[in-house]
Amino acid sequence: MDLKEYYLMHKNLPVCLMEISDDGSISRVRRNASAAEHFPLGGQMNEMKFHEWWRDRAIPKTRHGAKTALQRLGYSSTGSALINNLALSLTDCYWIQPRGEDLTWEEVNLFTNDFVDSFGEITINPDHDIDLRTRTRFDCATSQGELQKKWCIDKDGRRYLVKGNYGLSYQQSINEVFASELHARQGFKNYTRYYLTKLRVEGGREGLGCLCYAFCNDSVECISAWELLQTVKIRQNESYYYPLKQVCISLGMQEQSFTDFMDYEIMTDYLLTNTDRHMNNIAVLRDPDSLQLIGFAPIFDSGNSMFFNIPLTELPLLHLDQVLTHSFIAKEPRLLQYVHNRHLLDLDKARMDFSVYEQDVAERHSRIPLLKELYQRKLASLSAFQSGHDIWKKR
Ligand SMILES: Nc1ncnc2c1ncn2[C@@H]1O[C@H](COP(=O)(O)OP(=O)(O)OP(=O)(O)O)[C@@H](O)[C@H]1O
Ligand SMILES: [Mg+2]
Repeated sequence: MDLKEYYLMHKNLPVCLMEISDDGSISRVRRNASAAEHFPLGGQMNEMKFHEWWRDRAIPKTRHGAKTALQRLGYSSTGSALINNLALSLTDCYWIQPRGEDLTWEEVNLFTNDFVDSFGEITINPDHDIDLRTRTRFDCATSQGELQKKWCIDKDGRRYLVKGNYGLSYQQSINEVFASELHARQGFKNYTRYYLTKLRVEGGREGLGCLCYAFCNDSVECISAWELLQTVKIRQNESYYYPLKQVCISLGMQEQSFTDFMDYEIMTDYLLTNTDRHMNNIAVLRDPDSLQLIGFAPIFDSGNSMFFNIPLTELPLLHLDQVLTHSFIAKEPRLLQYVHNRHLLDLDKARMDFSVYEQDVAERHSRIPLLKELYQRKLASLSAFQSGHDIWKKR
């Protein structure tokens, strides 16, 4: 196995020196004590945590379409794609510098230098003709999440992320747009706006995906709640809510900013039946130079919602009080226990237009009246909740 030495860099600051094998695993990590504060938060506690932080940086092997993309681009693993692209990301300012080479952040970063996300392109359309001559010096080989996705640059230089869907429906993309519309109607500001976009998918078919503009740049980086949670000890089976609150406050967030954002997010997720608000779908933003916390990242990734994975025939039988989530607590109604201010969601501004679901494949149009009805039932539960009923308690 080939081992090479690299500095892990935060912009132009080396935070450690380490050996990396050609499949991406690291060893002999030597930290730079004078830049200790810039060392990734997720790896600060101990070496094992740092290994996990590094491993989580590669595109997950389970990403839809990853196997084909690796083969087509000639990588043996997502770890080797990671090193080949200097572990550059569009969500933070870390990267690796081969020892002895003289590269600067200004020369390599993906926020200001051009790139082509060939890997992402192939995950969306495995038949895509990648012209290897147009490949840029470095690509993005760090993005998280299971869905096919690619980073692109628009004509004004703005970075945006295109996401696909599971299977043969476009509901996840439409759900993102539906959630954006709910936040817009609420007049809530801190959310990521998603737009529908046409995609060329497998077999040359035209499909539908969604896109959103990047909320990070050269002076705003993103840290997931999962990474923040690696800085504290958590008891077995303890909900992540209070540890997360503790970390955010220790990084300088006001308690009220934490609870207001969480209250709003928990109630809107409940209304949309978003069952996937796991700790990589919540994040904070910080200034990579001063390390000051900026606040929560705008709400993103609300696509696994609105009963997207429930077959039509099961929709009328659904017990809404038994929905399970991947968030702080498994039982969805119980998440509402964390809400401090029940009126941060304005139910009068939560009446929605469902016509956007007509963009899904024709076979799924029969779902629309059922989605409407389920949404109405959620509105009614939230209305009871706002009148003081603790709806998770059996009546
Ligand atoms: N607009 C954005 N700007 C910057 N980073 C983003 C943006 N949208 C997403 N990300 C980053 O990319 C990651 C993956 O995106 P996203 O969560 O939307 O994908 P996903 O495949 O739906 O995830 P999951 O596996 O949770 O379903 C996020 O966790 C976040 O770190
Ligand atoms: Mg996600």
